[in-house]
Amino acid sequence: MTDKYAVIGNPVSHSKSPLIHRIFAEQTGQDISYEAIEAPLDGFAATIERLREQGYKGCNVTVPFKFEAFGLASQPSERARAARAVNTLKFDAGEIYGDNTDGAGLVRDIEHNLGVSLKNRRVLLMGAGGAAYGVVLPLRHAGARIAIANRTAEKARQLAAAFSASGDVSGCGYDELAGQQFEAVINATSAGLTDSEIPLPTTVFAPGALAYDMMYGRETPFMKFARAHGARVSDGLGMLVEQAAEAFFIWRGVRPNTAPVMVKLREVA
Ligand code: ATR
Repeated sequence: MTDKYAVIGNPVSHSKSPLIHRIFAEQTGQDISYEAIEAPLDGFAATIERLREQGYKGCNVTVPFKFEAFGLASQPSERARAARAVNTLKFDAGEIYGDNTDGAGLVRDIEHNLGVSLKNRRVLLMGAGGAAYGVVLPLRHAGARIAIANRTAEKARQLAAAFSASGDVSGCGYDELAGQQFEAVINATSAGLTDSEIPLPTTVFAPGALAYDMMYGRETPFMKFARAHGARVSDGLGMLVEQAAEAFFIWRGVRPNTAPVMVKLREVA
């Protein structure tokens, strides 16, 4: 019998997850279906309940339900607890396992696909919202020394303080970055959605630095800025595919090959 999975969000019709998981399934010979389901803004828990009743094996969760999904998980992973958000649910008997594969996807894309080791590297993480929250611990586990900068500096300091036990993490405002250089600069803000510039010093990129935008689908002002100041630039498409691969592994115990999926997505983009 075909095992059923879905991605739940609102809105969700733009999601590339159904395409990605269908390619993974074909490639690995796994008999699954995967669809996009829009839950009403006040109806996430009811939607999950319905899916469980209908025998779904799990789902991905996207904006704006990742925090609510964490609350629903009867067994959250360490990664989920650190992020206080869940993007992958697995239904098993009476339990709801919750995990967060976003940070692992980011680290895998940077280290494996882009070939940039994070160990002992100075990394600037921009933003202190949910997207930034989800990736701090995986970046620390990869050995990155992290500075978090945010428009509202106090939020960056709070985020850094929440992870201070994990080691080298500090928080600041953009104006405090003058004179500092980083080997990787990661944009976890939502500034790209409104085509807004982030007030970064032009000298922030160390020679050969990677500028990584967690958004994908178009060139953000940050990406243009980074390119103009000598950085090597990547969007977040690889992170999207890698977080999906990690979710697929959680559900199916099989690791798909992400490279051909990335090629396919660039073709259809
Ligand atoms: P998400 O879940 O995508 O992280 P969020 O929790 O609303 O969304 O957080 C958005 C992040 O983008 C915040 O860090 C926000 O900065 P503030 O905390 O100061 O609001 C940041 N952000 C949004 N628009 C921005 C802009 N134009 N310039 C710089 N940072 C911006």
